[in-house]
Amino acid sequence: MNPIKLKENVYWVGEIDWDLRNFHGYSTQRGSTYNAYLIIDEKITLIDTVRPYLYDRMMQRLSRLIDPSQIHYIISNHVEMDHSGSLPLLMQTAKNATIITSPHGQKGLMAHYKRNDWNFKVVKSDETINIGKKNIKFVLTPLVHWPDNMVSYLAEDNILFSNDAFGQHIASYERFDDEYSLGIALDEAMKYYANIVLPYSTQVQKAMDLLSPFTINMIAPSHGIVWRSHVKDIIEEYKKWSSSKVDNKGLIIYDTMWKSTEKIAYTIQEAFESLGIPTKIVNLRYEHISDIVADVLTTRFICVGSPTLNSNMLPTVSGFLTYLKGLSPKNRIGLAFGSYGWGGQAVGHVEDELKECGFEMMESIKIQYIPDEAQLTEIVNKLRPAIQGVSGS
Ligand code: FEO
Repeated sequence: MNPIKLKENVYWVGEIDWDLRNFHGYSTQRGSTYNAYLIIDEKITLIDTVRPYLYDRMMQRLSRLIDPSQIHYIISNHVEMDHSGSLPLLMQTAKNATIITSPHGQKGLMAHYKRNDWNFKVVKSDETINIGKKNIKFVLTPLVHWPDNMVSYLAEDNILFSNDAFGQHIASYERFDDEYSLGIALDEAMKYYANIVLPYSTQVQKAMDLLSPFTINMIAPSHGIVWRSHVKDIIEEYKKWSSSKVDNKGLIIYDTMWKSTEKIAYTIQEAFESLGIPTKIVNLRYEHISDIVADVLTTRFICVGSPTLNSNMLPTVSGFLTYLKGLSPKNRIGLAFGSYGWGGQAVGHVEDELKECGFEMMESIKIQYIPDEAQLTEIVNKLRPAIQGVSGS
C-alpha cells in the first residue's frame, strides 16, 4: 500500500489489478494497473483515479502522504471509467476539489455521473495552471483514446502524464521500465496500441507533433509501468506503429472443420517461406483475437481462412474479422482462403470483409473437400508470383 516516488513530491498512488483477465474483450493475461499520481504542492493535485472496486486501497495509499480532504485539484485526463470511476466516491471526501478536464471531459463526466454540483475547471490545449512551486501544462489529445482525452505535463520535472497513450496492461510490483523486462513491456505496449489505439493512429501522430517541443524525461501512463529509462524507445515505437509501416511478413489466421482449410493454411505458409517471407500461423480456436491483432500491427500480409458452415464462415472467423475491421489497420495485403463441401460461400464472405478493411486483395483460394497434393502444389505455384507481384520479393 505504499506510494511510489517518481520525483520529489510526485508519487504513484494507483492500484494494481492482479486478477484482471479481460478488459472489455481484450485478454489481459498479465493483469493491469490503474495509475493515479499525486503531486504535493501548495495546491495538492491528483491525476486520474482507479476503478471503483479499488478505491479503498487507493485511499489508503494516498492517506500515507496527505489528508485526502485537502486535495485541491483532480485532473481527469480521460473520462473512461477505469480512470474516472472513483470520482463520485472521492468527491465525497475531497469536497472542495476542482476537477480539471477538457471540454469533452466535462461533458462526459457530467453525463456519466449525473452531477451538476462538482466544481470544474475546463482547460484548453497549451493552458498551464500553477499549483505552487510547480506548473502543469495541458495538451488536448482527442481520440487517443476517446474524444475527451488530454495529457498533463509537469514542467519542472519534465514528466508527461500520458493517460492511455504509452500504456500497457501489466500488473507488477515493479513500477518503472528499468525494473521490469523491457521486452515484455514493449510487447505489451504493442498489444495495447493494436487493441486500443490503432484506429486513432492519425490522432496519435497529431498528438506526437504537439508534444515534440516538450522535453520529456519520464512518461507516466495510466496503465502499466512508467517509462523513465526507455522514453526514446517507446516514442520511436509509437512513431512506427502510428505510421502504418509494416514489415514484409505474413500472418495466416484460420479455423478449420475437418482440417482441409488447415492444409491450405500450411501450404500458403510454404509459399511465403519459399520467398523468404517469415509467416506465422494462428488457429483461432487457440489464440485470443486481441493477441492476434498485436501481430497484425506490424505485418503486411493478412491471410484469413474459413471453411463454409451453414452458408457462412465459422463464427470464430467472423468474430475476428469484425474486431479487425473496427481497428482499421492500413496498408495491408489480404488473402481469403478455405475449403468447402457444396455451397462454398465462406471464402467470398471473408474476401468481402477484408476488402471492407481496405486491404489490397490477392486472388482467393477455394478448394472443394480435401485438397490433394496436386492442388496444394498448384496453390504454391500460383501464390508465389502473386506475392512477388505485391511485395517486390
Ligand atoms: Fe484506460 Fe480509455 O481507458
